[in-house]
Amino acid sequence: MKIAVIKGDGIGPEIVTEAMKVLDAAAAKYGHTFHYTQLLMGGCSIDAYGEPLTDETIAACKENDAVLMGSIGGNTTTSPWYKLPSHLRPEAGLLKLRKSLGLFANLRPCVLYPELRAACTLREDISVKGFDMLIMRELTGGLYFGERRTEAVDGVMTAVDTLTYNENEIRRIAVKAFEVAMKRRKKVTSVDKANVLDSSRLWRKVVTEVAEDYPEVTLEHALVDSTAMQIVKEPSQFDVMVTENMFGDILSDEAAMVTGSLGMLPSASLNETKFGLYEPSGGSAPDIAGKNIANPIAAILSGAMLLRYSLDLNEEADAVERAVQQVLTEGFRTADIMSEGCHQVSCSEMGTLIAQRV
Ligand code: IPM
Ligand code: MN
Repeated sequence: MKIAVIKGDGIGPEIVTEAMKVLDAAAAKYGHTFHYTQLLMGGCSIDAYGEPLTDETIAACKENDAVLMGSIGGNTTTSPWYKLPSHLRPEAGLLKLRKSLGLFANLRPCVLYPELRAACTLREDISVKGFDMLIMRELTGGLYFGERRTEAVDGVMTAVDTLTYNENEIRRIAVKAFEVAMKRRKKVTSVDKANVLDSSRLWRKVVTEVAEDYPEVTLEHALVDSTAMQIVKEPSQFDVMVTENMFGDILSDEAAMVTGSLGMLPSASLNETKFGLYEPSGGSAPDIAGKNIANPIAAILSGAMLLRYSLDLNEEADAVERAVQQVLTEGFRTADIMSEGCHQVSCSEMGTLIAQRV
């Protein structure tokens, strides 16, 4: 099986190295061979080729069964990458890659492991209930891809970003959300801002239509501001949350943090086929890059999602997820999730511990 690997910038190379270690452990145990092709994207591609994503890299991704990615980007105030015009910055590469590969569905599971309750930023009476939600973020539409410009209007500098969705884009992400909900607790919360935005009113209408095909699933509509509040008030109420690109970006960081650390959250970006791109939900964390202290678990769990969704290797994916659970139960922690009485380990030690348990 062929996996393209984009280690990226910041902590990307460290955490992806650990994810590959764990994938190789799964391959060895279950008798598979993974062929990796390393590719550059983001800041490292700017340094090497003068642009964040080359056409060759896109083509190379398409020749593989899946893409395993770390993170891209640097410090936005100090890195020279952010002196470049916006279409040549690291993030432009990621957006172009998502669009070119048609990765419209971004799945971000946010689970509070009982072992990590102490790292959860919520009050104990809330965290004790635990939570397990999946944010289904639309990834190739909305504000991220609408027309934008900055120009003088009557001598006043004016910037415009456009939030566009058509019914087909909404329908396909809604279908994914209901399909996933059927395999979970059968509840979908569709998040919008229908009290203000036209795009949200269409969103609500189309999601309601799709729901008719899934009578077993309970559909609830919620406004994004209220949802931001409910995530910290009562996260256990959520199962699958489906929302547009920008709302999903913001809510998924919030939901990730209440699980204890952004370093725990994997993600899968899928198109209509089995192909997918798998990356941690968190960023490149340039402040801790190269120190071997980052948490590789999000990257490792992204590897598990890759096994499950692109390679159909469910048993192998279960083994990786169980191994992560086991190291946490045994009390091993990276710095970001460290709490009293636990044993602090480095990024590479965490990867080795998990690989051994696979
Ligand atoms: C994410 C990131 C990206 C996004 C950035 C790096 C462009 O924040 O994957 O959530 O906003 O989608
Ligand atoms: Mn984000």
